[in-house]
Amino acid sequence: MTVQDAGTVGDLAGRIRPDFILGVAAAAFQIEGSLNADGRGPSSWDAFAEKPGAIVDGHSPAVACDHYNRANEDIALMQDLGVDSYRFSLSWPRIQPGGKGPVNQQGLDFYDRLIDKLLKAGVSPMVTLFHWDTPLPLEHDGGWLNRATAERFAEYSAAAAHRFGDRVAQWVTLNEPVSVALQGYALGVHAPGRRLLFDALPAAHHQLLGHGLAVQALRAAGVAGTVGVANVHSPVRPASKRLADGLMAKAFDLIFNRVYADPILLGRYPKPPLQVKPWFRALGKIRDEDLKTIHQPLDFYGLNYYYPVKIASGRGDGNTPGNHADMMAKLPFHLAAFPEYQSTGFGWPVAPEHLGILLRELKDRYGAALPPLFITESGASFPEPDHTAGPVHDSDRIDYLASHLGQALRATAPGGIAHDVELLGYYVWTLLDNFEWAAGYSQRFGLVHVDFDTLERTPKDSFYWYKSLSRARRS
Ligand code: NOJ
Repeated sequence: MTVQDAGTVGDLAGRIRPDFILGVAAAAFQIEGSLNADGRGPSSWDAFAEKPGAIVDGHSPAVACDHYNRANEDIALMQDLGVDSYRFSLSWPRIQPGGKGPVNQQGLDFYDRLIDKLLKAGVSPMVTLFHWDTPLPLEHDGGWLNRATAERFAEYSAAAAHRFGDRVAQWVTLNEPVSVALQGYALGVHAPGRRLLFDALPAAHHQLLGHGLAVQALRAAGVAGTVGVANVHSPVRPASKRLADGLMAKAFDLIFNRVYADPILLGRYPKPPLQVKPWFRALGKIRDEDLKTIHQPLDFYGLNYYYPVKIASGRGDGNTPGNHADMMAKLPFHLAAFPEYQSTGFGWPVAPEHLGILLRELKDRYGAALPPLFITESGASFPEPDHTAGPVHDSDRIDYLASHLGQALRATAPGGIAHDVELLGYYVWTLLDNFEWAAGYSQRFGLVHVDFDTLERTPKDSFYWYKSLSRARRS
C-alpha cells in the first residue's frame, strides 16, 4: 500500500459513522460453479453460456470460483477482511429446480449452512433473491416475458423467506432488472439472448410485478430483516446542447433509470415525451392494480453505481463500450465517449463525482418516497494477470473504491450535495474475481485474485486497503 492510500484510509475512516455498513457483494451464478450438483436445475444462463460466441473466448461458468465447495475459505477471507455484511444471491434453480413446484432440500441446505457460518464469522447476510439465473423451464415458457414468472418468483421467495427469514438481515428482491430486460431481452447480449428491442418491455413490467409480489410474500412470511430492491442507475447527460441529443438523453434516462424506479417508488410509469411515445407501446397494456402491487413500501433502496452515460442522437459507430454493436445500431441514439475520464478494463469512465450527483438527482426526483439507501454495488475491473506468483498491486482499484466511497460519504454528510439522503452502507463489487457474464473471466473486479486454473485465491492490495479501512473506522 502506498503512503497516499494510507492517507485515504485515515481520512475515510474518520468520516464513517459507527452504524455504517461496509460490505462486499457477489452473485450465485458468477461464483458457485457446481451447476449439476445436489439437485440443482439448469438456468437461463447455463443455456446461454453454451451458445457459440455468447461468452468471450467461450469461457464456461461450470466451475467459476468453485465457491459451492470453497465457501468456508471465502467466509474466512471475509472475516479477515473485517466486513460487516456479505451480499450474495440465492440460486433459484438450486432451490427450486423446475422454477415451480417442489423445492430442493439440498439446495436450501447449502444456503442454510452458508448463512449460519457467516453469522458465526460475524458477517451479516444480505440476500438477493434474483440475480439473473432464471430456472430454464420458466425461460422456455417465455421467462420474464411471461406474466406467470412473476407469480412463480413470489412462490420461490416465500420458500426462501420461510427457511431463512429468521437470520437474514436484508432482503433484496431483484438485482438490476434493467440489465435483464435490456441486455437479456432487448439486445441479446445476456441470457436469454432475445433481441426484441422495445418489445422487451413486458420483461421489465413482469420483473417489477415479481418484485411487488415478492415483497408481499416476504412480509407475509414475517421475515425479521428489512426489504428492498437493487437498481443500477447512471446519471444521463446529452452529448451536446442540440435539441435532438437532449431528447434522446431524456428518452434513455426513462428507459434506463425511471422505468424501474418510478413504479417502485411512486406507483406509476414515467410519461414518455411525445416523440418517443411509440417506443413505450408495450407498456400500454398494463393493469392498474399491477402498479399498486409494484408500489410496496420498502425499508431501503439499493443503488448499484458504476458510471455516468452520455447520449448522442443518431446511430453510433459501435466503438464506444456499451454500444453492443449490431442491435444498438438499430436505435436512433448511441453512447458517446467521456474523453475527460480515465477508463476501467471494460472501458467505463471512472467518474466518482457523478455518484454524488446521482444521489442528488435521485433525491430530487423521488423526495420523501426515496427510502434510506445502500450502495449495493460499486467497483471496477482492471487488466490483471491470469496467474500470479506474488501480490497483485491494484492501485487503480484502490483509487476507484476510495474515491467512490469518499464521494458517497461527502455527498451525504451534513452540508454535502445530497445531505438529505440517508446512506446506510457501501458494498464493494466484488470479493472474488469471477464469471463476469458475457465477458467470462476476462474482466477482474475482485478484491481477491482468483487463478481460474488452480482456483487459488490471492488477496490483492485493494483487499488489504479495505481491511485497514474497516479496522481504522473502529479504532
Ligand atoms: C452489475 C451486476 O449486478 C453484476 O452481476 C456485475 O458483475 C457487475 N455489474 C459488473 O458488471
